[in-house]
Amino acid sequence: MKDVDTLEFQNLRSVDEVRAARVFEEGGYTSDEGASLASMRYRFDHARHLFLGAFDQKGSLVGYVMSTQANAPLVTHRSMEEHDPHGSTVCIHSVCVNPLWQRKGVASRLLEAYTRAIRNYNSSIDASECKINRLALLSRKNLVPLYERAGYTTLGKSSVVHGTETWYDCIMDL
Ligand SMILES: CC(C)(COP(=O)(O)OP(=O)(O)OC[C@H]1O[C@@H](n2cnc3c(N)ncnc32)[C@H](O)[C@@H]1OP(=O)(O)O)[C@@H](O)C(=O)NCCC(=O)NCCS
Repeated sequence: MKDVDTLEFQNLRSVDEVRAARVFEEGGYTSDEGASLASMRYRFDHARHLFLGAFDQKGSLVGYVMSTQANAPLVTHRSMEEHDPHGSTVCIHSVCVNPLWQRKGVASRLLEAYTRAIRNYNSSIDASECKINRLALLSRKNLVPLYERAGYTTLGKSSVVHGTETWYDCIMDL
């Protein structure tokens, strides 16, 4: 049964889960858009607190949001390459759901859980650590309503060239 109410949201815990995410990444993004396994491993190793999965009752990964922190107001190419623990912007690089679970509200729940998780992260860290004050992502045009319903504001076309898609900058200030 594919019931979004039964999903559990938590950070990825193992390299096997990163491999499972990579299968969805490969299917959901074109080869010039999607992250390589090496890049996903890097993000898992350096920014696991920003790699949130939705898991079904059997513990299988159903979808995920994957990001890095950056010292820039919007998603940049640099933020795709590296995680800056002193950056106050979370740059979301992937929002991806198993095709068997799509159009059931998983991404909407994931985005909601993600915002909650980042707020919790801010409350949990030491005063000397960098708090996150913005979530930023690049959206496809047809998905802008998905992000706006999740609380993001669309700023317009992004200057980032990534694959052949035209991307739209979306942000949420916390
Ligand atoms: C985009 C994606 C994450 C959406 O996941 P999902 O779990 O199916 O999304 P939801 O069920 O929460 O969708 C909520 C609403 O978002 C919009 N939406 C979702 N997918 C859409 C699509 N492919 N085209 C247009 N609108 C879409 C719809 O308004 C939908 O409501 P509806 O089903 O009542 O019409 C999923 O299709 C995916 O993994 N795609 C491949 C990777 C990708 O493109 N990621 C986004 C990059 S910006």
